[in-house]
Amino acid sequence: MKCYLLVLVLAYFQCFSTETLQKLTIDEFLNSTQYKSLSLSPNADYLLVHSLRPVWESNRYEDALWLHQTKTRQKKLITNQLHSNIKPKWSPTGTWFYYLVNAVNERSQSSKNEKYLHLYNIISEETLLIDVGTQNPLAITWGNDDNSLYFISIASSQEGNKMNENEWKDVIQYRQRKHTDSSTFYRIDIKNKDQKISVKITTIINIDFLVGELLLAPAENKLVFTSVSALVENPHDFEIYALDLRNVSLLSKLTDNKVVEQNLQLSPDGKHLFFVTISLEPTGGKYNDKQNTLDSIDLTNGKIEHWGKGFNGNIRSYTIRSQGGVYILGQLGINVQLYVQQSSTKYVMLQHGWEGTYQLISSGSSPHSLSIAFGHSSFERPFEIYFIEHINQLYVAKAITCGNQLLRERNLPRAKIYRWINSEDDRIIEGILHYPPGKFGCKNLPLFVLIHGGPNAASLNMLIGDYYSWAPLAATEGWLVLEPNYRGTGGYGDEFLSEIIGHPLSRPGRDILAGVDSLISDGIANPNRLTVGGYSYGGFLTNWLITQTTRFNAAVSGAGPAEHVSLWGSIDMPVYVATYIGGYPWEIPETYYNESIMFKLGHVQTPTHIVSGANDLRVPPSESLMLERGLHYLGVPAKLLFFPNEDHDLTINPWHGKIKVREELKWLNKYGHTSLNKTIN
Ligand SMILES: *[C@@H]1O[C@H](CO)[C@@H](O)[C@H](O)[C@H]1NC(C)=O
Ligand SMILES: *[C@@H]1O[C@H](CO)[C@@H](O)[C@H](O)[C@H]1NC(C)=O
Ligand SMILES: *[C@@H]1O[C@H](CO)[C@@H](O)[C@H](O)[C@H]1NC(C)=O
Ligand SMILES: *[C@@H]1O[C@H](CO)[C@@H](O)[C@H](O)[C@H]1NC(C)=O
Repeated sequence: MKCYLLVLVLAYFQCFSTETLQKLTIDEFLNSTQYKSLSLSPNADYLLVHSLRPVWESNRYEDALWLHQTKTRQKKLITNQLHSNIKPKWSPTGTWFYYLVNAVNERSQSSKNEKYLHLYNIISEETLLIDVGTQNPLAITWGNDDNSLYFISIASSQEGNKMNENEWKDVIQYRQRKHTDSSTFYRIDIKNKDQKISVKITTIINIDFLVGELLLAPAENKLVFTSVSALVENPHDFEIYALDLRNVSLLSKLTDNKVVEQNLQLSPDGKHLFFVTISLEPTGGKYNDKQNTLDSIDLTNGKIEHWGKGFNGNIRSYTIRSQGGVYILGQLGINVQLYVQQSSTKYVMLQHGWEGTYQLISSGSSPHSLSIAFGHSSFERPFEIYFIEHINQLYVAKAITCGNQLLRERNLPRAKIYRWINSEDDRIIEGILHYPPGKFGCKNLPLFVLIHGGPNAASLNMLIGDYYSWAPLAATEGWLVLEPNYRGTGGYGDEFLSEIIGHPLSRPGRDILAGVDSLISDGIANPNRLTVGGYSYGGFLTNWLITQTTRFNAAVSGAGPAEHVSLWGSIDMPVYVATYIGGYPWEIPETYYNESIMFKLGHVQTPTHIVSGANDLRVPPSESLMLERGLHYLGVPAKLLFFPNEDHDLTINPWHGKIKVREELKWLNKYGHTSLNKTIN
């Protein structure tokens, strides 16, 4: 609190330029390194870090796996072709870890396109390759010891399907089950006899759904795993199962609920399985939504316990403490902090560290290891990985990586929390204000409202250089950027999250408009130079906002839906659309109409820049086509860019994200400074 007051006082003395540091450029900002996963070896001597960075000259991102020695801080590149989804994992003794490499790059190694499981030995520094067939494994885990593993692949095609081919040729029957909807479980045994290594792979069982994550519970002699589905339509497609290895015809379902379970981890005694839950659907007949929680299930009796006692925010990640209990990364407002909880009945305790966003966490599993590794970022501090030997070193942690050092050497914008009230229901809403460098606390600035996606995500106290969280770059280009944490944002309690239901656009949209009003009446934003934009749900809200007011001179809308019925009918997560709107189209047509964008499009005057991944399954590109067509017919300046081969997250080619941001900045600059229509409605 003290810090906040100090910022307010300083504000009046800081309104001058301090350009001693160089200006941040778009090329530098989007050249950042991201970190995707962390894994400490059992005794915490080694840390595996999965990093991701753009390789501009080859139009792709590079997934690299680094092995860090935590004592000497030496590092070694293991591969720069790491498989992006299967997380490397240490063997029970910590002598080995496995990893997979990307299918595309592996082709060069084998003409038959075989996949290899890579086992790296930290003592010999050699890699053992195990041929696991032609399918990419869905999930892998170690067995009881370092000589066995389990893996699961998509089931290979069966005879029955071949016969159908004569009758159906290449015709696809939607909803008909395919062999690729099933999984096959395998066990790998490695024998080392007289310096000769032999590998035996045995098929265990076929199961008629796809598997997401896999763990072995040695104490119970069971494999525990999650079921998943590409289409998020039925919450019961996402549950936890256990397979008894003593008798594989004994498959039991451990959960039966309306959440998705993720991030499975076992307690040190192997008897409690932990998981994060993500709410999916209306519960108890009444539509509501919940933030992510942490639960555990007792594998001996099936009893479920809830963790996070006393914490009202959003649980983003966790790791098991070797000395009992868990470390939780919990988001409250714009910060994600580290909490400790010793047992499910005790309250969580905040571990005082730095302000900002802790993300990714791993701890050593051996009983005497108190070490943890984590990622951290805040407004002034780019994302890096840190290692500490004890939780009480949080304040003095030193980075073990330095992928984003350059950002620290640039003249970064300063940011602060800004709060206002939506007078409709007197809710306090907060957001982040990023001031152009050297303009902290200045008045009458041109405003860019940058709206986060989700809607249950949040704008956070962090600095990540990507096409999505580019507020610092827009501020560097002279915009005062407001990132509103509107109704429906996670980390502000379950009620705040649920207040969007039935008003998926109008309620968060009015929260945002109230924020703009407040910035104008405080004299901070120039009412004649207002602009707006966002990606995904942020694009959705942008599309709605321009139908409500002509106050925005320019809009930059990314992967945003334009029409609820078509969105519900084609999105890969129809469950969410129905939940947020409050029912199906035929049940509540009036809400679908009242919250509409396309039926109100005639009011739009704001020049709008639109982008979409050409293969986006979350928000199909047809939504952007519909919006562009409407604006074109209305004579409103509009431009639509498609990014070939990209799905919702633009992960294929870094140039797509760069061109998106480059063109959006140009659009804001071209239209944002001239008010075509001064009416404020
Ligand atoms: C991006 O970073 C890499 C290494 O970190 C550097 O070699 C390259 O020149 C940078 N590219 C740009 C466009 O800044
Ligand atoms: C395995 O479980 C099935 C189903 O309960 C049972 O019928 C079968 O006898 C068991 N097999 C063995 C070897 O215990
Ligand atoms: C839809 O809007 C109309 C007009 O503002 C209002 O009378 C009606 O109550 C709204 N219906 C719903 C379901 O929100
Ligand atoms: C400004 O906007 C108002 C309300 O949307 C509209 O009636 C008016 O014609 C517009 N004026 C110009 C000059 O576009």
